[in-house]
Amino acid sequence: MPDLSHAERHHSSNRNEWWRSGVIYQIYPRSFSDANGDGIGDLAGITSRLDALATLGVDAIWLSPFYRSPQKDAGYDVSDYCDVDPLFGSLHDFDAMLSRAHELGLRVLIDLVPNHTSDQHLWFQRALSAHPSDEARDFYHFKDGRGVDGNEPPNNWVSMFGGPAWTRTRDAQGNPGQWYLHLFDSSQPDLNWANPAVQAEFEKILRFWLDRGVDGFRVDQPHAMAKAAGLPDHPDVERAGAGFIEGEASPPMWFQEEVHPIFRRWREILDEYPGDRAMCGEAYVLPLSFMAKWVRPDEFHQTFNFRFLDAGWDVEKLYSAINESFAAFDGVGAPSTWVLSNHDVIRHASRFGGDYGRATASDGIGPNDAQPDRALGLARARAATLFMLGLPGASYLYQGEELGLPEHTTLAGEFRQDPTFARTGGARVGRDGCRVPLPWVAGDGAANGFNQSGKAWLPQPELYREYSRDLQTQDENSTLHLYMSALRIRGELELGSGSFDWLPQFVNDTALGYRNRDILVIHNFGDTALHLPPGEVILRSQTINTDAHTAVSTTDAVAPNETVWIRAC
Ligand code: NOJ
Ligand code: CA
Repeated sequence: MPDLSHAERHHSSNRNEWWRSGVIYQIYPRSFSDANGDGIGDLAGITSRLDALATLGVDAIWLSPFYRSPQKDAGYDVSDYCDVDPLFGSLHDFDAMLSRAHELGLRVLIDLVPNHTSDQHLWFQRALSAHPSDEARDFYHFKDGRGVDGNEPPNNWVSMFGGPAWTRTRDAQGNPGQWYLHLFDSSQPDLNWANPAVQAEFEKILRFWLDRGVDGFRVDQPHAMAKAAGLPDHPDVERAGAGFIEGEASPPMWFQEEVHPIFRRWREILDEYPGDRAMCGEAYVLPLSFMAKWVRPDEFHQTFNFRFLDAGWDVEKLYSAINESFAAFDGVGAPSTWVLSNHDVIRHASRFGGDYGRATASDGIGPNDAQPDRALGLARARAATLFMLGLPGASYLYQGEELGLPEHTTLAGEFRQDPTFARTGGARVGRDGCRVPLPWVAGDGAANGFNQSGKAWLPQPELYREYSRDLQTQDENSTLHLYMSALRIRGELELGSGSFDWLPQFVNDTALGYRNRDILVIHNFGDTALHLPPGEVILRSQTINTDAHTAVSTTDAVAPNETVWIRAC
């Protein structure tokens, strides 16, 4: 039973910077829309579909990486930070996309990947061919190995994608040399952020994109950038793997103090530019009380809220995630953010249709796993989304969730491209299932309007046809219409900058309810319907008198797996 003595409140805010209350839509470029028909989404495809996002009612878009890259980790392995990969188009296409977005009133955040580069980046190539004592090596973490002939890695760290976090170099004759560090794939060497030359390069990169007019950055893995001096062993690698154990001392690669001056400097740079430029950190820092430091007034504008994402369909966890969020972020005057899906986790329409553990474990669902209950997952996903979009703060949406799109859970191994799959010999199927190209027009080519050629870098499952956007546009009970209504009402009633108070009569083992301004939001996790409090129902996550598979709402109740928005009388 949630402990009401820990209930937090939040007051409405009269600070109107857009990022405090905005809804930000994540575009995964390779899967959004493909203009030239090569099977990979591109910038021209994005530009051609921006109207649909303006109609949806979001405030901003965030683009996952589109920079030059060998694409070993879907673009999170950058070989040139100041150019567009020809797969996605050109800088000219980027400018056209940005200007169309701005015409439509959409802000644009781009993804900055500072923890590591691609092994094809000039900095790394230069370092590889340099002598171990040369300063070119100081851009990265090169070290001699341990043991006989340096055969053992320099420390015990493991990669987030499985396997060791070190790879040994070889010279042109094949002689083994030093090792280099990679917290992710071996094609993603970690930069050495203690080196002022690395810091200076990134300041130039920030300015390059700010000068072009971007509204800010989503910063990849900021909590990994600084490493403890000397790179000591992880004290508990057996239990923590590549990660950390909450409440215990932080391992030498996660959230080291030395990262903060870097982001404070970046904030100064953003503040030099006109307009409301913003920086959001993908910081996996827990508990959230530790994260508060990251969003102090002179640091990140906001960070992702993985505590909320991980809470899943668990009343107690959700209740405490929300309390913890307001306690931590209000304390430093920062907005909380909320998120249910992104390109690294199982889509929430599938995650809520089964028991798949921690959302952020980045383990997808494969053909050999228990398959999600599609109808239950969708009903719960719609309820969870309405619960989230009623909260004050900024919310992040992931492309396709507005269609109620499920994960591709039967994708065959031969198509999988996430390095996690290969690095674990298929034991972890990885994240491809949430990255499949979007269906726009039912039956239009084999890829449902993703392009005209029918090619797709990951094949869509048959069932994506029924989730196509054109079908949902015509159906007022569709998930797309639910998102549009929620975003419209959220905007009209200024819920994003609103207030938050728990409704104690709806905080128990099977329900959570809160009030934001005049709106009561009631979420039923239980098996039996709840009586509605007095007021006018303005939105509900299930449709009245629809079919079969899901519990059906009645007008005077909150059905199981449903969220209702009520205007209090
Ligand atoms: C987090 C990104 O979201 C993920 O997709 C990527 O694999 C890692 N960072 C490494 O860049
Ligand atoms: Ca393309």
